[in-house]
Amino acid sequence: MNAHSIQPKKLAILISGGGSNLQAFIDAIQNQSLPASIAVVISNKPDVKGLERAAKAGITTEVLDHKQFKDRNAFDRQLMTLIDRHQPDAVILAGFMRILGAEFVTHYLGKLFNIHPSLLPKYPGLHTHQQAIDAGDREAGASVHFVVTALDAGPIIIQAKVPVIANDDADTLAKRILEQEHRIYPLAVKWFCENRLVLTHTGAMLDGQLLPSSGFQFQHS
Ligand code: GRF
Repeated sequence: MNAHSIQPKKLAILISGGGSNLQAFIDAIQNQSLPASIAVVISNKPDVKGLERAAKAGITTEVLDHKQFKDRNAFDRQLMTLIDRHQPDAVILAGFMRILGAEFVTHYLGKLFNIHPSLLPKYPGLHTHQQAIDAGDREAGASVHFVVTALDAGPIIIQAKVPVIANDDADTLAKRILEQEHRIYPLAVKWFCENRLVLTHTGAMLDGQLLPSSGFQFQHS
């Protein structure tokens, strides 16, 4: 298949906050480095900056406030209904701060992506930057992975490393990592959109090769 025969893929992007990763997708699509369109941006929180970014780019937005639901399953089901209305090829968790249940994850398995601000499998969950500092790690980073039912444990597609510098606090380290997140997340999804990346029973495969357990190692300047 050559590049010209690839149909642009439709993305649903889920956010909870600032949406700087969402912005990286908007920019990558606009500068034609990502063959995709954003069908919908969904936030579980009203009034977040990411919604403004989407509206400014002319993208359909939806708010599904998790506080309006009696339990996680009810929220997940409504979220699925909302997403499926837009028939996306991929669902992109971009700073979406809700844990999704097994039914949701299974429904989108193989086309559900997340970015996590640590060098997984280190530091799943929250407060990753502080944990890296407290552990005295000399490097930290971000990982893009397929989502599976276990939290932050899906096959890793790509990682970018950054140094931890003397006197770093969680904010300075987070800022350094975020710059790399904006590079690796659209790149991983580009591979998917080009039909080069698939989730298999043995792990993530890129161009027919099983990726190492730590994913493709992104070299940045
Ligand atoms: C990112 O660090 C992401 O890895 C984490 O939450 C942050 C979201 O940032 N899960 P933004 O909303 O994309 O600016």
